[in-house]
Amino acid sequence: MKIVSLAYLASVLGAVIASVPMAEQQMVIQVDDLIREQQDLKIKNQSILEFHKKLVEIPSISGNEIGTAYYLKNFLEEVGLTVELQEVDAGGRNVYAYKGQKRDNKVLLTSHIDTVPPFLPYKVKGSRIYGRGSCDAKASVASMVFTYLDLIEKGLIKDGDLALLFVVGEEFNGRGMIKASRELGTSWEIGIFGEPTELKLGTGHKGALKADVEVQGIASHSGYPELGISATETLIPFLLRLLELDFPSSDVLGNTTLNIGRIEAGVAANVIPPYANAECILRIAQDPYVVQELLEDVAQDFNNLTLNLTHAVEPQFVDYDVEDFDTIALSYFTDIPNMAQKLKKRYLYGPGSILVAHGDHEYIEVADLFEATKGYEKLVAHSLNQLKAY
Ligand SMILES: *[C@@H]1O[C@H](CO)[C@@H](O)[C@H](O)[C@H]1NC(C)=O
Ligand SMILES: *[C@@H]1O[C@H](CO)[C@@H](O)[C@H](O)[C@H]1NC(C)=O
Ligand SMILES: *[C@@H]1O[C@H](CO)[C@@H](O)[C@H](O)[C@H]1NC(C)=O
Ligand SMILES: *[C@@H]1O[C@H](CO)[C@@H](O)[C@H](O)[C@H]1NC(C)=O
Repeated sequence: MKIVSLAYLASVLGAVIASVPMAEQQMVIQVDDLIREQQDLKIKNQSILEFHKKLVEIPSISGNEIGTAYYLKNFLEEVGLTVELQEVDAGGRNVYAYKGQKRDNKVLLTSHIDTVPPFLPYKVKGSRIYGRGSCDAKASVASMVFTYLDLIEKGLIKDGDLALLFVVGEEFNGRGMIKASRELGTSWEIGIFGEPTELKLGTGHKGALKADVEVQGIASHSGYPELGISATETLIPFLLRLLELDFPSSDVLGNTTLNIGRIEAGVAANVIPPYANAECILRIAQDPYVVQELLEDVAQDFNNLTLNLTHAVEPQFVDYDVEDFDTIALSYFTDIPNMAQKLKKRYLYGPGSILVAHGDHEYIEVADLFEATKGYEKLVAHSLNQLKAY
């Protein structure tokens, strides 16, 4: 693996920037400049920057990932891997790739190829690559693929050791991972999941509980409130009680938090409201059933109020027993709960920050793409070593 030092990268970028007028400085650097200046990682004559550029340039908003799937298939076949496409639906194909003919593999490197909307074009500014998916999660995909190539080139993996799985639909409903882990007919022992974790090892992520509240009242003239029943006069005190609750927290994932996201009530200022509802989401750091009981206990104190709880995602506690990594607890969802196979270990790691991931200025630092390949290599080596001990 060839990685140019950060200091060198900074000096070349500095030189390029210094040579142009101020107004153009933000726009001047193209990926070709980076590649020409050898700030690239090349393995098997393939450039990680070119590869990542293609991935970002092909739009793959959830439901329309097919172009990216075929690009990946062709690329991975060209570098000598066995590739399977799994049809998920009309617009989506999962990509499963491995060395040789063994479909079952000990360790799985997996991420997703879909992105949130809208599509944002690829562009390079300074040391950052912008574009939809540049970070979440095409940076993880690119780093995982180059990790694989490097491990092959160094002779560190043999057939049956390591597979790549890139799924669709993660940003929507996880249907890609659900289908792959249930229906590919392969098995894995350890999974390494690629998402933006700032190159830290994830300790887990919160779950979610959706709470819909509905109150029925009786309409009447606002001058004669005794003839009606105000739905808002039940909903508001109920919501205030929720805000006072002491939800369970966790050392690993932090506090359980409540968001009262939407409230709807009434028909007009001069009518006692016959109806009120609210939609809330709780980000759960601990046993969701403890949280459920707390909410239901409060609801019992209110008449004509219906509480509808939906367990969306269980909190996920993953492994972080690897030396030399900083750790991070996350508050976003991943495909980890959609992995139907029971794995011995699950790791969550990747380049880039979730803080920019779904925004209008999504980007990845070029150096983080390279750094992540080293991180993934460490995790693969650690995983294969552990499995020897089982
Ligand atoms: C490597 O890639 C370059 C440009 O993409 C090409 O000119 C060269 O022939 C390739 N070398 C090998 C050994 O494939
Ligand atoms: C968690 O909740 C406690 C008590 O409400 C509060 O003191 C603390 O700051 C919260 N932690 C975070 C990270 O928000
Ligand atoms: C609940 O609603 C019914 C009619 O919808 C009403 O008769 C009853 O008094 C209400 N209960 C309370 C405590 O508001
Ligand atoms: C409860 O909420 C779920 C999810 O939001 C919804 O699909 C379902 O229809 C609701 N059920 C009732 C009885 O309101």
